[in-house]
Amino acid sequence: MSGGGVYSLATIGAKDVIDRSIPRVLSALASMPSPAQGYWNFSDMGCADGGTSLQLWRSVIEKIRHSSSTDIQIVYADQARNDFNALVQILHGHTQFESYLPGAENVRVLESGASFYTPILPSASLHLGYSATAMHWLSRKPCDITDHVHMVGASGDEHEQFSEQARVDWQTILLHRARELKPGGKLVLVNFCRDDNGHYLGNTGGVNMFDQFNHNWQSFVNDGVVTSAEYRAMTLPQYYNTTDEFSAPLLDTSSEVYAAGLRLVDIETAVVECPFARDYSEHQDAKKFAHEYIPTIRSWNESTYFAGLSQSRSLAERQDIIESYYRTYQDEVERNPSGHGMGYVHAYMTIEKVAG
Ligand SMILES: C[S@@+](CC[C@H](N)C(=O)[O-])C[C@H]1O[C@@H](n2cnc3c(N)ncnc32)[C@H](O)[C@@H]1O
Repeated sequence: MSGGGVYSLATIGAKDVIDRSIPRVLSALASMPSPAQGYWNFSDMGCADGGTSLQLWRSVIEKIRHSSSTDIQIVYADQARNDFNALVQILHGHTQFESYLPGAENVRVLESGASFYTPILPSASLHLGYSATAMHWLSRKPCDITDHVHMVGASGDEHEQFSEQARVDWQTILLHRARELKPGGKLVLVNFCRDDNGHYLGNTGGVNMFDQFNHNWQSFVNDGVVTSAEYRAMTLPQYYNTTDEFSAPLLDTSSEVYAAGLRLVDIETAVVECPFARDYSEHQDAKKFAHEYIPTIRSWNESTYFAGLSQSRSLAERQDIIESYYRTYQDEVERNPSGHGMGYVHAYMTIEKVAG
């Protein structure tokens, strides 16, 4: 992910997705008794720079403060290579983002570089764990995809390998959270999905965004800008579960996850419109649209593409290829903006840890 607060500036849509989950989080909170002693303990897993979830945590704090002054701790976790400087600065009010933290009474935040594929918190310490738009990143890439850059375009054995990796990863995430949650604790997870209409991120009716990525990279291969080996290495290590895939270990009474006490409270899917495409439908300025839209895509896939380029190329050459890729994309959107957009398709789910 891009750093320096760039992430939150470029991804207004991700904030819309989180804001849509606020009633779900407040309702999960309302179903839990206030801690008899100690403090409320929350986690925000895959938080990036924390800017997109400020409103969510402000709402949680306000809700608690209606009835109590109990201490609140929020543990922000992301991969160790995340830009934690940006996170700290945003949370502590040193940026243009309006943080809930300065002046908040009895609220503390902690930052953790622990992956959600590992333990983040001590056993039985967590009241409510939250994560948005992060758990589609697999713990490893099971294979390169021969003729696409993403699993949504994979088939046969390659697709199988991705779905098996995703199954194992989802179980790992849930088992770690099962250990961390207090009995009666909840998870609210907002994850990319493939919905019942076959829609997924960037594929909600217009141009299929992933096919566009793929088309552009294949043109680069055909034009000799990158090699076939580099193209294959650019396979994105992501998977978008269906609601059945998310639900399976939580409903299967013989699964390890079920035995660990996790139960699905409910799951729904929703599409959140691409904010840049929505604005374009009003302002009709194709240049402005392309200029705003490409950075939101770039914020999450540039590092994978860059890593796919051969180390035998100089740094400058690799940077030039990446610049040229996004410029080509931006020019394409500017020339022909109709149908482009990154509509978000998410599964919103609440999970409970039952008392053992
Ligand atoms: C698209 S951002 C989402 C940020 C924020 N939650 C939001 O919804 O706006 C995805 C985040 O997931 C993080 N991430 C990816 N894999 C992770 C892992 N294994 N453990 C923790 N965070 C991870 C990335 O570093 C990135 O910050």
